[in-house]
Amino acid sequence: MSPGESDDLLVGFDTSDDAAVYLMGDQAVLLTVDFFTPMVDDPYDFGRITAANALSDIYAMGGRPLTAMNLLAMPCSLPPEVTAEVMRGGADKVCEAGAVIVGGHTIDDKEPKYGLSVMGVARPEGVVRNVGARPGDLLVLTKRLGVGILNTAIKQGLETEESQREVIESMAHLNRAAAEAMVEVGVHAGTDITGFGLVGHAREMALGSGCACEIELANVPVWPKVVEYAEAMVRPGRTADVVAFLDPFLDWGPADFTWKGILADPQTSGGLMMAVAPEKADALLAALAARGEEAAVVGRMAAGEAGTIRVV
Ligand code: CO
Ligand code: CO
Repeated sequence: MSPGESDDLLVGFDTSDDAAVYLMGDQAVLLTVDFFTPMVDDPYDFGRITAANALSDIYAMGGRPLTAMNLLAMPCSLPPEVTAEVMRGGADKVCEAGAVIVGGHTIDDKEPKYGLSVMGVARPEGVVRNVGARPGDLLVLTKRLGVGILNTAIKQGLETEESQREVIESMAHLNRAAAEAMVEVGVHAGTDITGFGLVGHAREMALGSGCACEIELANVPVWPKVVEYAEAMVRPGRTADVVAFLDPFLDWGPADFTWKGILADPQTSGGLMMAVAPEKADALLAALAARGEEAAVVGRMAAGEAGTIRVV
């Protein structure tokens, strides 16, 4: 056996899954790490959103988070209260998730960064991967798209204190209930929408599942004003790279320049995207609605060249 391999490693990093999965006895242990530079001004919100995002990778795999460790890089010039607020935000989210912070590490750095390494568990047969989707499966998405665009608008001073509150709460919202619904109903594949946008994560799912994917533009839910901002070129710098990277695999169909930017908009702590058998789709939507989770059917997996996406 070569270094980096183990019989107990059920999921490593070769399929871009959300977390690694290691079998320990009859439990699947899920391991993940994520960190960010501040996407919002308020240190407490920064902490909450970062923690919700890190925990999300455990939820995306159908797991339950148990422990988390803080990773913190802060300029020593920053008042200690700011650091304390970041960590309080993280701790509150971890606590809400029913997990505990068990330690961490801090270093000096010019640019602030915060993240968490999270450990969770799942039944081995209950692990949801980002591969395994089948042609005909419906793609169900929770949380609306466009927070990358809105965060850019906020940085440019285009949004008010009130108008950004809802978006901040959406980013800080745990994917816990969505994951519970996903595990209860049973899906073929699942992931969370983050830095590669809806189409980027759909591409990964389609590629690993050996099928194609269709996104129905009219059914993609977006935050108010996102279209307006995208038209006005208010978008994260990263979007152009994501669009360029995905371009060879995409038939953009009716998606013009504006909508390409929305479909590829990098999300911070986005929702779950699940590939569910068509006969189970209503049950999944009902299970999500029963938990107060917003959800939409945004497309379907289709027969065709693996990893290709058609916007219709
Ligand atoms: Co993820
Ligand atoms: Co991640």
